[in-house]
Amino acid sequence: MAAMKIPSSFLILILITLFHSPASLDAGSTFDVQSFGAKPDGESDSTKAFLSAWHAACGAASPATMYVPPGRYLLYNVYFSGESCKSNSVMIRIDGTLVAPLDYDIVGKVGKWLQFEKVSGVSISGGTLDGRGTALWACKEAGKSCPKGATSLAFYNSDNIVITGLTSLNSQMFHILIDGCQNVNLVGTRISASGNSPNTDGIHVEHSSGVTIMNSRVGTGDDCVSIGPGTSNLWIENLACGPGHGVSIGSLGWDSQEAGVQNVTLKTATFTGTQNGVRVKTWARPSNGFVRDVLFQHLVIDNVQNPIIIDQDYCPNHEECPHQGSGVKISDITYQDIHGTSATQVAVKFDCSKTKPCSGITMEGVDLTYKNKPATASCANAGGKTSGAVEPMSCL
Ligand SMILES: *[C@@H]1O[C@H](CO)[C@@H](O)[C@H](O)[C@H]1NC(C)=O
Repeated sequence: MAAMKIPSSFLILILITLFHSPASLDAGSTFDVQSFGAKPDGESDSTKAFLSAWHAACGAASPATMYVPPGRYLLYNVYFSGESCKSNSVMIRIDGTLVAPLDYDIVGKVGKWLQFEKVSGVSISGGTLDGRGTALWACKEAGKSCPKGATSLAFYNSDNIVITGLTSLNSQMFHILIDGCQNVNLVGTRISASGNSPNTDGIHVEHSSGVTIMNSRVGTGDDCVSIGPGTSNLWIENLACGPGHGVSIGSLGWDSQEAGVQNVTLKTATFTGTQNGVRVKTWARPSNGFVRDVLFQHLVIDNVQNPIIIDQDYCPNHEECPHQGSGVKISDITYQDIHGTSATQVAVKFDCSKTKPCSGITMEGVDLTYKNKPATASCANAGGKTSGAVEPMSCL
């Protein structure tokens, strides 16, 4: 039997690997934020360490991991830019909690806390974001002068993003923002903030295509999911919403030139004690915007104020709305298998534009009650059809 021989080139490779970088755990592909100086004490500013680890991971020639071990890491606003990335696959594995500064001015004036821009192939796995927004909400509540606040996690102009098992707590403003992106998968997201926290939308999507939101639980003070201009091919499945303002397409149509919303599916969702179930909301202003090809399917409604609503007469201060109705054309919206309880008498409200009436609204298998009796429906400028049992009686 021949003696086992280790080729010397193999030994050299091992030595290179061991001494390549103190931050690398395996073959230079994992970058631990602690080896760049991050402190898991919740008090030391770890911003620079996170940025260094990011630059190392995204500057790697091959797939790389940025690793955040358990513990609490204080971060000021962090800008993760993809400009100088070489790797087209960066995994950010978070076993710890990222904590915003207690002084809300610091990130609140910037408007974003953790911001990714022009990145491709970035995945975030696990982790908790603690936006510590309560003091800012109180400032707003008291009507004092406060900054607008920061979105906790924002992705701009990025593609092929996967976010799995992320938890976001008490954001100052929006929890998660997806803007100008292609192919984004959010799976198992948990979002939590007080039901009366202002402008704390759960997940806001705009100017993006191919966003999928699966198996998520959102309880917050504003929309659980809000859908802005230029959203297409959005898929939301298995969503638990409440407290919050429901799932909202809009507000749209503030601008006279505005990208439309197209091909949105919300499938299998529960709404518990929310202000709205599914809403489409447009400003009563001239616009070339549109909403088309939307499916709301298999929804359970539990004590919701406006389970099904289209509001095209939105103009809160009755200013800057020149009595022309909304220019946003709404068509081909399907409501299928929606049942439960309304917290108000009018469970279905289609208040469409007088200049661009809604068309192609379909209701199929809708059953909503108010105090154990059928609720009512109200329609203005709404056209479409019903099939199967529909309660309240359709006004289409
Ligand atoms: C609509 O969007 C889904 C993804 O949400 C996509 O699979 C489907 O192809 C899109 N349909 C059209 C007609 O573009």
